[in-house]
Amino acid sequence: MSATISALAAYVPERVVTNDDLARTIDTSDEWIRSHTGIRERRIAAPDQAASDLAIETARLVLAQRDLPADEVDLVVVASSSPDYANFPSVASIVQDRIGASRAGAFDLSAGCTGFVYALEVGRSFVEAGSVNRVLVIGSEVLTRITNWNDRNTCVLFGDGAGAALVERDAGHAVLHSWLQSKGSGDAALIRPAGGTRTPFDPQVHTLADMQIQMDGRRVYLFAVDALVQSVRTLCEREGISPEDVSWIVPHQANLRIIEAAAKRLGLPLDRFFTNLDRFANTSAASIPIAIDDMQQQGLLEEGQLILTVGFGAGLSYGGNLIRW
Ligand code: UT7
Repeated sequence: MSATISALAAYVPERVVTNDDLARTIDTSDEWIRSHTGIRERRIAAPDQAASDLAIETARLVLAQRDLPADEVDLVVVASSSPDYANFPSVASIVQDRIGASRAGAFDLSAGCTGFVYALEVGRSFVEAGSVNRVLVIGSEVLTRITNWNDRNTCVLFGDGAGAALVERDAGHAVLHSWLQSKGSGDAALIRPAGGTRTPFDPQVHTLADMQIQMDGRRVYLFAVDALVQSVRTLCEREGISPEDVSWIVPHQANLRIIEAAAKRLGLPLDRFFTNLDRFANTSAASIPIAIDDMQQQGLLEEGQLILTVGFGAGLSYGGNLIRW
């Protein structure tokens, strides 16, 4: 008995914002953003859309693919760094109610941009343990709402979107292994410093920027290349294969230069790595399911192929999943 992905879908908001659009209000340029990141445009959620709204759209798409009523779902897990509310209630509980998953438990998972990788392993483990039959695993982000739009070092990098997978027994693509890691010593490299119990927001001391994304870009870059290389090597070793045997590596879509550097270190051609960050930018926990959905739409996935996902981000967290498509 193995846990499988029986359906996968993504939803991105309609509004497209190009680099040139950003350059009208921020001191940046299409040339800088493209040459330093590979990003050309991103989607930005409508003012009335929060993380749960995007998650609900993608959850409905996944259930429709399986023609499955929502009350057949046993557990909803949402990975998000940009939840509707500060910590509670969970995005997952809102999704559980709005889609009509009346029998399901629900919780959120916080693992930064590695969130979907972690959530997929949670889904796999629950199903393989036999305690539930179906887990809806979702990554959903409205990062542009926690972005500091005066900080050109970060604001050009992020976009909004959601993706979801339904995990159930022997019904699709097997999740073979996962590798979940954390380097918490890098906690300050990617952080929203104020607003939590460590540093409650104090209007006398803090500005809005203290509640928004702050990143040591260089440090995260170096960590990300290592994390990508190590995750590919470790998952391949565990399966007793070489990285050349993997059909597709689906990395977290942060920056093309991170992916190029990792490809070089692994001695793999760049075309073995799927990228769509040029169109969607960094959507954190949503980027991997959005990428896999895109691959499905483009007809790139064939039965039997080995697909290796890799996430890396705040925590600092990293890791991956090996999937037999
Ligand atoms: O999801 C995981 C989290 N994030 C990541 O994976 C991001 C990891 N880091 C990176 O991708 C890169 O470090 C960045 C894309 C964030 C930055 O690229 P970089 O090549 O390391 O640029 P830099 O920080 O070294 O900055 C170079 C210059 C600076 O100017 P000075 O000080 O040399 O005059 C920046 O002020 O580029 C300037 N700069 C910009 N210029 C135009 C930074 N952002 C911009 C911008 N437009 N948007």
